[in-house]
Amino acid sequence: MPEFDLAIRGGTVVTAADTLRAEIGIRDGRIVTVAERVADAARTVDASGLLVLPGGIDSHVHIAQPSGPGIVMADDFASATRAAAAGGNTCVMPFALQPRGASLREAAEAYRALAEGQCHVDVAIHLIVSDPTEAVLGQELPALIAAGYTSFKVFMTYDDLVLNDRQILDVFDVARREGARVMVHAEGYDAIRYLSERLEKAGETRPFGHALSRPQLVEREAAHRAISHAELVDLDIVIVHVSGEQAMEQIAWAQGRGLKIHAETCPQYLTLTADDMKGIGDDPMSGAKYVCSPPPRDAASQAAIWSGLQRGVFEVVSSDHCPFRYDDPAGKLNPRGKTSFRWIPNGIPGIETRLPVLFSEGVSTGRITLNQFAALTATNHAKLYGLYLRKGSIGPGFDADLTLWDPNHRETIRQAALHHGADYTPWEGFQVTGWPVMTIARGRVIAEDGRVLSEPGQGRVLDRSLAPG
Ligand code: URP
Ligand code: ZN
Ligand code: ZN
Ligand code: ZN
Repeated sequence: MPEFDLAIRGGTVVTAADTLRAEIGIRDGRIVTVAERVADAARTVDASGLLVLPGGIDSHVHIAQPSGPGIVMADDFASATRAAAAGGNTCVMPFALQPRGASLREAAEAYRALAEGQCHVDVAIHLIVSDPTEAVLGQELPALIAAGYTSFKVFMTYDDLVLNDRQILDVFDVARREGARVMVHAEGYDAIRYLSERLEKAGETRPFGHALSRPQLVEREAAHRAISHAELVDLDIVIVHVSGEQAMEQIAWAQGRGLKIHAETCPQYLTLTADDMKGIGDDPMSGAKYVCSPPPRDAASQAAIWSGLQRGVFEVVSSDHCPFRYDDPAGKLNPRGKTSFRWIPNGIPGIETRLPVLFSEGVSTGRITLNQFAALTATNHAKLYGLYLRKGSIGPGFDADLTLWDPNHRETIRQAALHHGADYTPWEGFQVTGWPVMTIARGRVIAEDGRVLSEPGQGRVLDRSLAPG
């Protein structure tokens, strides 16, 4: 009997800390050993010329999330996790959203039931708290945190999700007491409403109006407010999807004062700009394909975000995958969306393209190191959200979640080759150097050369018992 189920030989193993030539021995879905030579295995994968990276963890994705009357998200758990697998990911973290007036516990249970049996990669579920009633703060949220839902997101904008300052303080307080991680969507609701109404009155209803209605200062102000509330309550928070220099400066300022403010950014803030929302050719409506919040900014902001990545202001790069079909009355071009930017569903697809875009623009250009790439795409996600020592690195005891990566492979991103449920990609025609050639999840090859080999149900819905670090 061979000692291992699977051995990976000939590759360069990359973790957040090391880059080394080593072999990996895998048994029962876990890594048993990483060594110069490992013993016989039932199957050997030849990784010559390839990097062996920790499987991507995408800790901010939206899947099958309720999105308002008549609007349907383009991915269910099967299609989103299929796309994740093809893109080199082995774990994703979507959100169970509490609709106002509904029970948070019931929302979490129903969402988990949607995921069970459908996933190609492992899933760990965050919550979205939109209605922090006494019952939610006093019973439901503490019980859910104890049951392993150890992270949740709060919103400072959106009609149906926004919390006021007092509510934010109250949920922060529960998180500190119960040991949960809070993610904050930092954009100021009232300022956005004020600007949106002014723009509409002036006749600016095109998708580009979305960018004008949410300038950087709206994000900067909310980031500052969230930081102040976190300091008051003495809570670590994660400010998610930071789009530009101004919000980033607030975060760097707080970090410089010793506050534990964690930050996330996304490939769209490194590669897209507000001008994309003007649309392609003479079709301004096609700008709807790029409408997400916060909106992508400009070249100066892209440069600032790169420098934040280099300096460690940001710990994680997530996709914020939030897919809507473009050419669809249930998506971007819904009847109301055609009348004003205000009704275009916010969000863009990116679960499958996150790793290639960041690798190409980050590692291949020399802006970040391979080790930073591993940290930003896997290790730090696991550490922030209580999955570490099980996921996020390559070493004995970790799940055998690996991505074999060809750093020299050139590819042009095309919608036709992607696996998500959206009908477009914002990165159509984008050329990358570096590509995932094999995804291994808990010791099984789930994707190879763009073909997904797993069945829905192979991925598990994880319980998180570890406190976030
Ligand atoms: O536009 C975006 N990002 N939509 C997704 C929801 C969110 O705020 O992350
Ligand atoms: Zn958000
Ligand atoms: Zn922390
Ligand atoms: Zn999001």
